Amino acid sequence: MIAFTPSPAVDRVAQTSKRPTMGPAPAGAVSLAMGEPDFDTPAPIVRAAESALQAGETHYTDQNGLPQLREALAKKLTAAGVSSFDAGQILVSHGATAGLASVILAAVGPGDRVVIPEPCYSLYADLVQLAGGEPILVGPAPDMHWDLDALHRELAGAKMIVFSNPCNPTGIVHTRNELVALGEMLSGTDTLVLADEAYDEIVYEPGLFASALTIESLRDRTIYCQTLSKTYAMTGWRVGYVAGPVDVVAAASRIHRTFNGSLNTAVQLAACTALETDSTVVDDMVASYRDRRDLLLDLLAKIPQVKPYTIDGTFYSLVRYDADLTSEQVTAELRRAGLIVRAGSEYGPHGEGHIRLSFAADPASITRAAEIMHQYFASVEAKIAAATV
Ligand SMILES: Cc1ncc(COP(=O)(O)O)c(C=O)c1O
Repeated sequence: MIAFTPSPAVDRVAQTSKRPTMGPAPAGAVSLAMGEPDFDTPAPIVRAAESALQAGETHYTDQNGLPQLREALAKKLTAAGVSSFDAGQILVSHGATAGLASVILAAVGPGDRVVIPEPCYSLYADLVQLAGGEPILVGPAPDMHWDLDALHRELAGAKMIVFSNPCNPTGIVHTRNELVALGEMLSGTDTLVLADEAYDEIVYEPGLFASALTIESLRDRTIYCQTLSKTYAMTGWRVGYVAGPVDVVAAASRIHRTFNGSLNTAVQLAACTALETDSTVVDDMVASYRDRRDLLLDLLAKIPQVKPYTIDGTFYSLVRYDADLTSEQVTAELRRAGLIVRAGSEYGPHGEGHIRLSFAADPASITRAAEIMHQYFASVEAKIAAATV
């Protein structure tokens, strides 16, 4: 046996990470834990990958991404925002995960402060730890939107702010006004903005969402991060991208190619097809999430001990519960009762006292999940009542 000691980077992440290792759900259990669409990838995208493989597209490609894919993305981003993009400002990545990792490892060094409004996607803090930086978690306003005063205070001297909009896990869509306020508070600084817009197409109120790409005052400092995972039900394909200032993208590219080399060629050709997908395909998926959101909210309204927030985007509900138990305890007890959810504490201190549910699941599972929660929280309340008699 050799004596193996993990590197300090592994130690840093291991000691602070709140991310669970998610195995498959135990037999018979209902899972609302996974953050992925329950749809299959649309057939034309699958066929494009098949044809590419049959045609011999099985070799290495450009390490920044297939030129035709980057051209298509540059066109899309130019049409969507206030800046004009060219293919040189785009890095195609192994999912948004590797895009986020590349940008953070490229920009953040030991001791750099990175502001992360929480509750937030739990990967961000782990990546900052990996880079040796200092994650600064900033709690929200009572409605789960940003606490702008707190952000302003913590942003002084920060290297970067990273957030998701629409927000995983809260389902909040941060408004144009919030983004404009962020731009104003960063004016005159060198702080970078890493805007993760993985759920930009999964929004329930038309006109509510504004991309950071459309905010003039954020224009020069924003690195945009996107993925095909959620919009096109392509989580297993692993294709995302980042776009932004040339020097930041060049640094991220150096990290990405050092870690990953080039992305699968056939997958990138399928991604080109995904970008040409008729918008009704995505609209239909979003309409289905909307129905399931409404079903979940109706069912949760009948459980007196829980309170969800407004869900304007994503397919998540962060649910506040009324019980003197940690979210890890509640999650473990619900698991024993046959329901798998995520503990709110995974997403930051203000996630404590909550559980996160994904409603990208079939209506029967959502209904069963609500039944289990109903029984569970009633039994917790009954126990508390019995103990206080
Ligand atoms: C906000 C957010 N960003 C990024 C990702 C990662 O996406 P990908 O599958 O492209 O790595 C997720 C996945 O859950 C997410 O919720």
